[in-house]
Amino acid sequence: MDLEKLKNEAEKEVKKAKNLKKLDEIFKKYLGKKGEIARVFTSLKKLSKKERKEVGREANLVKIGIERLIKEKSKKLKEETRKLKLRKERIDVTRPGKKIEAGHLHPLTLVQREVEEIFESMGFSVIQGPEVETEWYNFDALNIPKDHPARDIWDTFWLKNQKLLLRTHTSPVQIRYLEKNHPPLRIVVPGRCFRHEATDTSHDVQFYQLEGLMMDKNISVANFKAVIEEFLKRFFKTNIKIRLRPGFFPFTEPSFETDLQCTICKGKGCSVCKNTGWLEIIPGGMVHPNVLKAAGINPKNWQGFAFGAGIDRLAMLRYKIEDIRLFYSGDLRFLKQF
Ligand code: DAH
Repeated sequence: MDLEKLKNEAEKEVKKAKNLKKLDEIFKKYLGKKGEIARVFTSLKKLSKKERKEVGREANLVKIGIERLIKEKSKKLKEETRKLKLRKERIDVTRPGKKIEAGHLHPLTLVQREVEEIFESMGFSVIQGPEVETEWYNFDALNIPKDHPARDIWDTFWLKNQKLLLRTHTSPVQIRYLEKNHPPLRIVVPGRCFRHEATDTSHDVQFYQLEGLMMDKNISVANFKAVIEEFLKRFFKTNIKIRLRPGFFPFTEPSFETDLQCTICKGKGCSVCKNTGWLEIIPGGMVHPNVLKAAGINPKNWQGFAFGAGIDRLAMLRYKIEDIRLFYSGDLRFLKQF
């Protein structure tokens, strides 16, 4: 056997080997128990002592040579696989990430906060009251006795025991606040209200109101008008025009409807103001003496005005929304526009 040729062949094969499996095959072929080198060693028996020594030595060298080649190649292949694996697992930290959609404030919250800020700047405190009310605070204390026809206006969600209800307006907080705080005072009360009624584009079973109450020694309708006018001017950010009309509420006397000259058509008449040029916007009036008495305040010493603004209505005018129900629909196509 030509050892030189054997060595060259092995060298060539090792060089060509592309993976560890192939390399293992080459190892077996040349250095395995029944491999080429082993065969050379077995064939030594047939040789003379002198030749045996020489060929044996040479075969040993070739064996060591091939071993070294395979070892080196194996190292190289292992290194290559490791690099390949690393390249596959690599993370490109400079690639733009997947965008996580951030939420944002609901249009009603946006408007409520803006309205609060305007009133705060006029010296009003923002107060909260419970959404579950008693019949006393929601009706009786507000001068709406059981048999009073005005109770019909407030279609009520009664809770099972018929003693508690979902408040139909934010007015009960007037009483709650007056019981604990003595005039002079100015508060606004934003909050959710509920009415058991059929829904349409301007009514829903839930909506938001902003109650207002200002009490002092000499408060008059002039103060009411000035505060409402200033608020609307700042909210709509233009010079608005308002008018007061007589209205009726059991808890105020006299009571008013405040009309705002239509902000859309400027009084010319359009679909939003139903061609009247005016929008009914903030009802209110001078707090009825019976309400003050119910809250433990002497109407001879103190007087004030109250009002109840619809936050949904203000938001609808601000954003030109035609259906109140959109606010509560949870429809992202609507909500994403704010
Ligand atoms: N609570 C009334 C309602 O829900 C709105 C209202 C009218 C509140 C006149 C007032 C007021 O404080 O003075 O329709």
